[in-house]
Amino acid sequence: MFQMSELMFNDPPHLLQAQQFTPEFLEEAFCLAEDIRHYPHLYSSVLEGEWMAVLFEEPSTRTLGSSWTAAERLGANVFHTEHSAVTSSEVKGESLTRTVKTFTALGYTWFILRRRRAGDMQLAASITRPGQVVINGGDGPSQHPTQAFLDVYTIKREFGDLNQPLHVMLVGDLKNGRTVHSLVYLLSKYRNVKFTFVSTRQMAMKRDIIDYLDRHGHRYVERFDGLLSAMTKNVDVVYLTRAQLERCESPDEQAAWQSEFPLYGMNDEVIGQMGDRTIFMHPLPSNEELPEAYDTHPRARHLQQMENGLWGRMALLTKIQRFRLAHHQ
Ligand code: NCD
Repeated sequence: MFQMSELMFNDPPHLLQAQQFTPEFLEEAFCLAEDIRHYPHLYSSVLEGEWMAVLFEEPSTRTLGSSWTAAERLGANVFHTEHSAVTSSEVKGESLTRTVKTFTALGYTWFILRRRRAGDMQLAASITRPGQVVINGGDGPSQHPTQAFLDVYTIKREFGDLNQPLHVMLVGDLKNGRTVHSLVYLLSKYRNVKFTFVSTRQMAMKRDIIDYLDRHGHRYVERFDGLLSAMTKNVDVVYLTRAQLERCESPDEQAAWQSEFPLYGMNDEVIGQMGDRTIFMHPLPSNEELPEAYDTHPRARHLQQMENGLWGRMALLTKIQRFRLAHHQ
């Protein structure tokens, strides 16, 4: 039976949350991603003969496109649905578990899922057969482990050794943004990472993550006083996020967040105060907190994140497949 706390990889090799990664696994996967980036043709049959269902219930451009492209570049046969809540039998009340059973009956072994509800990934994984794989492509406000993987891969490519002191500032909707949740879990695998969380009090980092950092003795500060430009001098990475208005609990919460949001965005004044090596990142999509005009800024890394995501996801799928071949064939 799947144990959430087990190391990467457990048996079966689902990827449901960022806590599963180990630093050793990450190093190997980052090296593999570099190799795939340089020699993609050598990996074009890694998933030959494999059937993958990419079923997304929430909107997506990058994770859907990148997961799908990664799988096809490795030779998999990919079936996908976007907005499955309106285009699949879910409209008629079909459950997630029945959906997984359907694709199992059709011979699919791989599932990359995006769900509205936290907990659905564990539910899907709980009914799979040995050798089948569930990968979390984002579950509501909870987690997004493959995004965190590509984010850390991007940081690694920038700064090299992840065991050196690194100061990472996470900005914006830290309550509902699943990418920052997974990113904190992943980066806290490295002892010298220090976090600064910048948001309103309403959108503060989730308490279970703060408790996790406390329990494991990690360094962090929470700042609720805006003024991003005054805080970025000694920061290596400024990781921006959009306001997840669709996840706000009330119209009042939405209105409050929208009115304060300009404090949590990128602008020339903030950039002007950054240290020599500071970069800024964003999982995208962005709204006013990261205008498109910054796409080509020398400190911007959000376009590289997307590119790294393709090679990174190919590396993740390759490692999972190697595990499957070793344990399930
Ligand atoms: C994010 C997501 O869907 O969680 N985007 C992504 O996958 N790259 C970010 C967001 O929706 O704000």
